[in-house]
Amino acid sequence: MNQTLAIIKPDATGNARAGKILSHLESAGFALRAARMMTLTRAQACSFYDVHRERPFYGSLVDFMTSGPCIPMVLESADAVARLRRVIGATDPAEAEEGTVRSLYAESKERNAIHASDSDRNADREIAFFFSEAERLG
Ligand code: CMP
Repeated sequence: MNQTLAIIKPDATGNARAGKILSHLESAGFALRAARMMTLTRAQACSFYDVHRERPFYGSLVDFMTSGPCIPMVLESADAVARLRRVIGATDPAEAEEGTVRSLYAESKERNAIHASDSDRNADREIAFFFSEAERLG
C-alpha cells in the first residue's frame, strides 16, 4: 500500500461535484486517509505549482486555484500514484478516456476538476505540503 495526493479543484466544489468525485475514487478502491476543505492563498498556490512557474498558463492557474475552496486529500491503495492517474484521466478532458473523473466532471484543460501527484517523489512532497505525519497516519 502507498499514498498519493489528490486535490478536488474549485470548479468541482463550485459545481457540487465534490461528493460524486470522492465517491468515484472510493469505488475505484482508494481509501481516504486525510482530507480538508480550504481556499488556497496566492502564496500557497504559487508554491504548490512552482514547477509550472515558467509556463504560459501559470498566472491563470494560480487565479483559478485561489478562486474558491478546494479539497486536498491523501488517498491510499496499492500502486496509488499510477492507479490514481489512470482513474482521473488525461489533463485535457477532451483527451480523457471515457469513464475517468476528468471525462465525467472536468470543464477544460485548466478547470479540470482534480489534481493528482505524478510520481512517488512528488506525492511525498505534496502530501507533506498539506498534511502532517500525524494527520495522514491517524
Ligand atoms: P494539474 O494536474 O493540477 O497540474 C497542473 C495544472 O495546470 C493542470 O492540472 C491544469 O489545471 C493546468 N494546466 C496544464 N496544462 C494547461 C494548459 N495547457 N492550459 C491551461 N492550464 C493547464
